[in-house]
Amino acid sequence: MSTRLQAVRGMNDVLPDEAARWLWFEDVVAAWFARYGYRYLRTPLLEHTALFRRAIGEVTDIVEKEMYTFTDALNDESLTLRPEATASTVRAAIEHSLLHDGPRRLWYRGPMYRHERPQKGRYREFHQFGAEALGFEGPDVDAELIAMCAALWKELGLEGIRLELNTIGSPAERAAYRADLVRHLERHESQLDADARRRLHANPLRVLDSKNPAVQEVVATAPAMLGYLGEASLAHFEGLQRLLRASGIEFTVNTRLVRGLDYYNLTVFEWITDRLGAQGTVCGGGRYDGLFAQLGGKPAPGVGFAAGIERLIALLRESGREPPHRRPDAYVVHQGAGALDVAFGLGEALRAAGFAVVLHAGGGGFKSQMRKADASGAALALIVGEDEIKAGAVSVKPLRDARAQQSVPRGEVAARLHEFLKGS
Ligand code: HAM
Repeated sequence: MSTRLQAVRGMNDVLPDEAARWLWFEDVVAAWFARYGYRYLRTPLLEHTALFRRAIGEVTDIVEKEMYTFTDALNDESLTLRPEATASTVRAAIEHSLLHDGPRRLWYRGPMYRHERPQKGRYREFHQFGAEALGFEGPDVDAELIAMCAALWKELGLEGIRLELNTIGSPAERAAYRADLVRHLERHESQLDADARRRLHANPLRVLDSKNPAVQEVVATAPAMLGYLGEASLAHFEGLQRLLRASGIEFTVNTRLVRGLDYYNLTVFEWITDRLGAQGTVCGGGRYDGLFAQLGGKPAPGVGFAAGIERLIALLRESGREPPHRRPDAYVVHQGAGALDVAFGLGEALRAAGFAVVLHAGGGGFKSQMRKADASGAALALIVGEDEIKAGAVSVKPLRDARAQQSVPRGEVAARLHEFLKGS
C-alpha cells in the first residue's frame, strides 16, 4: 500500500488565490525598500552551523532546539537551514568586504526554518522580509528603520500594530544588570518554573519575558535595565525616542522586552498586534554592534529588523484588503482546420505586445470553449473559426458587457485591442 505524500508538517503550500496576494505584497515591499535606499541582498538558505551558533547564541531556543541541522555526508560538514538572516547578512558583508567604502543599507526576503511547535501564525518554514543597516552608529538609523515599518503598515492599511521599545545597554552594563537580576531571581527561586530555573544562570534576561504569571510576579519586582545604563547608552535611547516623537510614531517602553536572539545591544523593538491571537509579533529587531567582531570581521555597528510575512498576510486578509486582481485581457477560442496554428501565432503576437492572453488548450467544442473563456475572467474572447480564417480576420467578443462582437482584420488586432479593453 502506498502512503499518501503530504507536505512536511509546519510547511505550507501557498495556493494560487493566496499566492496572488503574496506576489502583490512582495512588490509593495520591494518598492517601499527602494524608497528608503535599501538594496536587495540574496544569501543561501544553507549556511555552516557554526555561523548561527556563534551569532544567535548557544543558550537560545533557536540554537538549542529549533535548527534544522544535518551533516553533509559528502564532505562531513555540519550545515543548517537558516533560522533567520541577520547572521547570513553579516557573514556576507564580512566575506565580500561590503563596508569597504562606507556603510550599507540592505534588505532581504525569503524562507526561514525553525523546528517549532506549529500553530496559527507559527510555522516551521516561514517567510520574512528584513532590513539590515550596517556601519551606522547613531540612533537616527534605528529611528529610520522603525519609521519605515510605520510607513509600511500605513501603506498596507494595517491598523492596531503597536510598537514596544527597550534598550538592553552595552555588554558591560548588561553584565552588571545580569548579576543583580540573577541575585533577585535566586532569592525567589521557589516561584520560578523549570524553564526559568534553567535560564536563571545560562540566559537570565530571557526570564524577563516569561509568560508564566508566577514568574511574572517575580519579574515585576526585579531591578530594571534602565537603572544600569551609562551616559552613552541613555543618550542613544533618548535620541531614538526624540526622533520617533518628532515623527509622530507612538510607542511604549517595555523594560521586559529582551528578544530571543543574543546578538543585540542597546535598541530592541517589536511591533505587536492583538488581532492574531498568541502569535501577535509581526516584526522584531534591534541593534547588534558586536556581531561583526563576533563573526571574525572588522568591528562595525549594525541594526535591523525582520517581519513575518505569514503574519502580515493574515492581518491583510483579516482587514479585507484585496490585491488588485490581474485577469487575462483575452482568451483565444479556436476551432476548425488550421485554426490552432493561427490562434497560436495570434496569442504569441499579442503577448509580445504586452497583453495577457490565454490560449484555449485541451479540445472541446465552440460552446464549451466559450464557457472556459468566460470562467477565465478574461475581458475579451478572440474567436478564430473557419469563417475567420477564410476572411483573414478574428472575431472580438467583449465578455463583460453587452457590446456586440466585431470582426477585425488579423493584422490589426494588436493595435485595436486597447480600444476594446477600454470599453470593458
Ligand atoms: P525574530 O524575532 O526571531 O527576529 O523574527 C522576526 C519575525 O519573524 C517575528 O516577529 C515573526 O513575525 C516572524 N517569525 C519568527 N518565527 C516565526 C515562525 N516560526 N513562524 C512564523 N513567523 C515567524 C529575527 O529573525 C531577527 N533576525 C530580526 C533582526 C534583523 N534583528 C536585527 N536584524
